[in-house]
Amino acid sequence: MEKMPYRDELDLQVRPAVSEQAVSTDWRGSLPVLANGSVILRDLRVSDAPSLFALLTTEEVARFISPPPTTVEGFERFIAWTHRERAAGKYACFAVTLKGYDTAVGIFQVRDLASGFDTAEWGFAIGSSFWGTGVFETGANLVLEFAFDTLGVRRLEARAAVQNGRGNGALLKVGAVLEGVLRQSFAKSGHYYDQGLFAILEKDWRAAREPKPFVHRVSVH
Ligand SMILES: CC(C)(COP(=O)(O)OP(=O)(O)OC[C@H]1O[C@@H](n2cnc3c(N)ncnc32)[C@H](O)[C@@H]1OP(=O)(O)O)[C@@H](O)C(=O)NCCC(=O)NCCS
Repeated sequence: MEKMPYRDELDLQVRPAVSEQAVSTDWRGSLPVLANGSVILRDLRVSDAPSLFALLTTEEVARFISPPPTTVEGFERFIAWTHRERAAGKYACFAVTLKGYDTAVGIFQVRDLASGFDTAEWGFAIGSSFWGTGVFETGANLVLEFAFDTLGVRRLEARAAVQNGRGNGALLKVGAVLEGVLRQSFAKSGHYYDQGLFAILEKDWRAAREPKPFVHRVSVH
């Protein structure tokens, strides 16, 4: 999430050609609804702009991420941009919602790193009143399944500022491995921050989901 690829000032309304990649194509028309328990991920809607503006622009949420839009209208433009990028087959952005409460309380993003989703990067931000509630972990696992099973990702990267304790902890708990530190790779408000480079490999993700063989221990005295 440190590198939210959207920039208001760079939104020139250019429709890129649809890239030709051997990945499942129907998500380009609209994202599937992903659900587990009370967490529901769905395509963003322009009407999500007010809640995302209220929840994702607070100091504690925005502290270690690239600056989010500063107005509701800016979020509306961001959402329209996510739809164009999705239609071009380069990017997917899910709204995080809760069962019976269709308001967007956060986002998960996955973007192609110029290799037909062989390697991709993900990021996420959730309103702070939902931190520590399990919403992140449930949503993250849905997004991982979408990335590996639908997009065909082989390597999923994430970057998190070293000082972003929750971001680092969140990545580690869903299986991301810290591979190194990208020194002074993130600039914000006149400061350069080191970022951890995390990755999850598809093969590791699949192996972790395989049922563990049952070992019956017999005590011998
Ligand atoms: C990143 C984010 C989505 C995670 O959601 P969350 O609900 O806070 O995540 P969780 O509470 O499920 O997991 C965070 C873990 O980090 C741990 N943690 C918290 N502070 C920590 C710290 N300073 N150092 C290390 N780990 C820390 C928590 O204990 C938790 O682990 P646990 O569940 O095993 O106890 C949310 O914090 C957020 O939106 N942050 C702002 C946006 C952001 O920074 N995004 C970029 C992330 S790369």
